[in-house]
Amino acid sequence: MVVNKQNLSEPNMAAKTDTPVNERQTLPVPEYHEQVVGLDHETVGNVRCDNPFMIAEGVNVYYGDNHAIRNVTLEIGKRQVVALIGPSGCGKSTFLRCLNRMNDSIENARVTGNITLDGLDIYSKAQDPVALRARVGMVFQKPNPFPKSIYDNVAYGPRIHGLAGDRAELDNIVHTSLERAGLLKEVKDRLDDPGTSLSGGQQQRLCIARTIAVNPEVILMDEPCSALDPIATARIEDLMDELCEDYAIVIVTHSMQQAARVSRRVAYFHLGHLVEVDDTDRVFTNPQHKLTEDYISGRIG
Ligand SMILES: Nc1ncnc2c1ncn2[C@@H]1O[C@H](COP(=O)(O)OP(=O)(O)O)[C@@H](O)[C@H]1O
Ligand SMILES: [Mg+2]
Repeated sequence: MVVNKQNLSEPNMAAKTDTPVNERQTLPVPEYHEQVVGLDHETVGNVRCDNPFMIAEGVNVYYGDNHAIRNVTLEIGKRQVVALIGPSGCGKSTFLRCLNRMNDSIENARVTGNITLDGLDIYSKAQDPVALRARVGMVFQKPNPFPKSIYDNVAYGPRIHGLAGDRAELDNIVHTSLERAGLLKEVKDRLDDPGTSLSGGQQQRLCIARTIAVNPEVILMDEPCSALDPIATARIEDLMDELCEDYAIVIVTHSMQQAARVSRRVAYFHLGHLVEVDDTDRVFTNPQHKLTEDYISGRIG
C-alpha cells in the first residue's frame, strides 16, 4: 500500500461531488463521509517523520463487526507532540490505545497491522504488556489517582517495576517525578494525604507524575484536560511543552485551540480513517483534504 502520497494534484476530493458545501453540511456524518472520502482512501499530508520512534503501519481495529480503525499508518517521533483530532467516535481513543495495548483488555477488540517501539514489535508474543506500558504510559481524561496517598500513587510504578533499591532512592524518584509534573511545591508537606484530596488539576498532574515515575519514553494522553478548568488546563499544557523535550507525546484533544497550542503535528481522524497528517501550522492554515478543512472550520463536528 502506498501511504503518505502527497495528494497535491487533487487537494480537494470533495470537488468530485456536485453538492455544494452548504447543502452537504446537512448530511449525517456517515453519508457525508462516503461522499467525500470514498472507499479507497489514502492519508494525505505526511504520515512519516524524522527519526520515528513509534511506527504504526497499516493498523486496523475491529470491535466485533465494527471496523473502528481503518488501515492507519502513522510515525511518531521523540521530542514532539502529535495531536489526534476529529469528531467524536472517529477512533482517536481506539488508535491511542493500540499504542500501549490497552485494547487487549477490551473483549471483542481485534487489532491487526504492525506497531513498533524503537524497532520492537509491541504485539509480539514475547512482549509483556505491563512492561510495555511502563515504556508507553497513559494519562486519561478523568484524573484517576489510586485510593492511596500522594506518595504511594507516584511510588506505585517504581515499586512494581523494582526501580528503586531502597527507600532513599524511592523518595528521590517520587520527589523528582512530582517536581517534573509541576506539583511538588503544592504537595511536599502533605505527601501522606490521599491523592483524591487534591483538586482536579492537581490530580491530573499527580497522574502525570505517576506516569513519568517509571521513566517512560512515550506518553499517551486521552483528552487530559477535558475535565479541568482553564487555569488547570494551561498548567497541563505548559507541562506538555516541558515534557516533550524528553518524551514523545501523543494527545487526543477535542479542542483545536489546544492542538494548535501544544502540538507540532496534527492527525485528523474521520470515521476510523486517518484523513490527514501534517505539521500543525500547515494543517490549520492550509488543510489539503476537504474533510479536514470542513472540520477545522466548524462545518462538521
Ligand atoms: N470498548 C468498546 N467496545 C466496542 N466498541 C467501541 C469501544 N470503544 C469504542 N468503540 C467504538 O469504536 C468507534 C471509535 O470510538 P472511539 O475510539 O472511542 O472514538 P473517539 O475517541 O474518536 O471518540 C466508535 O464506533 C465506538 O462506538
Ligand atoms: Mg475518545
